[in-house]
Amino acid sequence: MALDSIVDVARYPIQDVDSPGFESAVAEARAGLAEDGCAVLKGFVLAEAAAAMAAEGERLRDATIPVERAFWPYPPYQRADGDWPDGHPRTRRALRRNRFVGYDMLGDRSPTRLLYETPAMTEFVREVAGVDVLYPYADPLGACALSIQEAGEALPWHFDVTHFVVSLLVHEPEEGGRFQYAPYLRSDDDENYDDVTRVLDGTSDRVVDLDMRPGDLQFFEGRHSMHRVTAPAPGTWRCIALLSYCEKPGVIGSEETQRHLYGRVNREPLLRIAG
Ligand SMILES: [Fe+2]
Repeated sequence: MALDSIVDVARYPIQDVDSPGFESAVAEARAGLAEDGCAVLKGFVLAEAAAAMAAEGERLRDATIPVERAFWPYPPYQRADGDWPDGHPRTRRALRRNRFVGYDMLGDRSPTRLLYETPAMTEFVREVAGVDVLYPYADPLGACALSIQEAGEALPWHFDVTHFVVSLLVHEPEEGGRFQYAPYLRSDDDENYDDVTRVLDGTSDRVVDLDMRPGDLQFFEGRHSMHRVTAPAPGTWRCIALLSYCEKPGVIGSEETQRHLYGRVNREPLLRIAG
């Protein structure tokens, strides 16, 4: 399968780094990130390829292990971080439930896998990130995982550890499963707990409800922008592909992280990832 049967290269010519289209796609993503921490490249993946990605997600989701645990808004997420008074945002416990399809489960002809393994895609993300070097994540489960939420499964409000997340909406629930975020709610200098509390209480006017369609590529700055995904309605499901990258080659997540997210461990690097 060629890149031009997956990506809308007429609109986003990621294979042609010298083209004006490449430059404008990078500029569009960077502008969104700078403005409110979020950039969505609409229709990045062609409808037919997005449908094939969703069909693969649907085939694989029955093999996933749902993970349900208590969840706090700040790292390390599995417990309150330190000694805080009752009601403080860092003590606010929620329930996280979702399931992951590990990268090692994607098929040889998976369009999701082919997109992730295309060097042009890594190069495009590197340009948007503005870093000198970037490599695909060597983790055989986490490199390009599918995150799936069935009915009632929500990802509660939180801040990320990483600066930058690249994801692709693969399947959109007919109802629910909304990505919501509060752009740049905190900064390196100011935790802004008052506004964080309002977000957690559902009284904030800073929350944006993002409209996305299958095939839309999202760049998101989650370290300062609090975010969540609401639960899909009964009979529906949501699926995103999480495209992960590192500034060093050969990086694999810890055994603990693999077990925590996927319910299993795989330490064998996949040879198909170059670098
Ligand atoms: Fe996040």
